[in-house]
Amino acid sequence: MGQLILVIDDSEFNLKVVRGMLNEYYQVECVNSGEAAFAFLSEKTPDLILLDLHMPQMDGFEVMKRLKAERAWKEIPVVMLTADSDRGNEVRCFELGAMDFITKPILGPVMLQRVGRILKLTRLQKFLEFEVEEQTRKAEERRKQVEQLSEEIMKTLASTIDAKDRYTNGHSLRVAMYSKEIARRCGMSKREQKEIYHMGLLHDIGKIGIPDTIINKRDKLSEEEYEAIRQHPRIGSDILQTIQQIPDIMVGARWHHERFDGKGYPDGLKGLDIPEYARIIGVADAYDAMTSKRSYRDILPQEVVRSELENGKGSQFDPVFAEVMIQMIDDDIRYTMKEKDWLPKQEV
Ligand SMILES: [Fe+2]
Repeated sequence: MGQLILVIDDSEFNLKVVRGMLNEYYQVECVNSGEAAFAFLSEKTPDLILLDLHMPQMDGFEVMKRLKAERAWKEIPVVMLTADSDRGNEVRCFELGAMDFITKPILGPVMLQRVGRILKLTRLQKFLEFEVEEQTRKAEERRKQVEQLSEEIMKTLASTIDAKDRYTNGHSLRVAMYSKEIARRCGMSKREQKEIYHMGLLHDIGKIGIPDTIINKRDKLSEEEYEAIRQHPRIGSDILQTIQQIPDIMVGARWHHERFDGKGYPDGLKGLDIPEYARIIGVADAYDAMTSKRSYRDILPQEVVRSELENGKGSQFDPVFAEVMIQMIDDDIRYTMKEKDWLPKQEV
């Protein structure tokens, strides 16, 4: 069956005329009052409504208002039928949301043209809306997939870095988590928290370029070996600089060993010249080092870690972020924020 048109007019004569004009092309339903129209609408949804303006009891304006107020009906295109040539009424029809109006006496070809055009327009509009929604949904889905993929790649990279070092199992992941928590407590946005999390994951990526024998050496490092280890921020930032989509991702890698007093490396940046994210990661990195087991020592007691952070405020650490880390320690009553499930790997 063709498209359904509901005609609302109190004049039986008009209803007959309109039905006669449209019957051949559309399914036409006629009702003679607003009340009858709403009774019909509770059963069926027409593709278009032809609405008489002047009716006793509920007039066309009133019907229109009710139609537009109801979610299920407000999208149905309405064409007003009016005997008036009064401009005021025309304007009001449009203001209330009518698509068009047809002045009585109605001419058959005019009626068919307008109805046909409005139905086509509505179909097109619905199709476009659907397409836009569909494309937006697809784009969002693709964006999420890409984001998830990058996240997985970063995590894999982080565990690859950590796997190189027998004594830093899960280090990158924990530094990422602590950094994110510091950022959260400082009121940074979700986006910033995510950024710092990613930087935390990759902060030690430069260790890829350092020989395993040096990284895993139990004995005291020679001057050259120590110098080689000190290259990892530079190597890391060089590696990450190639990721053009996230230009700042190298911030954590390059500057997490800078010190607030300017005595750090590789660039000897001081105080607020050290990028904020790197100052946060620096605190998280030091915290995790102290709360992880080493070949030469166990996990440090919580009060020792706390006082190290306290003493390092303003010298090694940004005082604000060190204080936030101290608050995290104080909230961690059972001292769960430390390396867990530490499994020493086979001797190389
Ligand atoms: Fe590092």
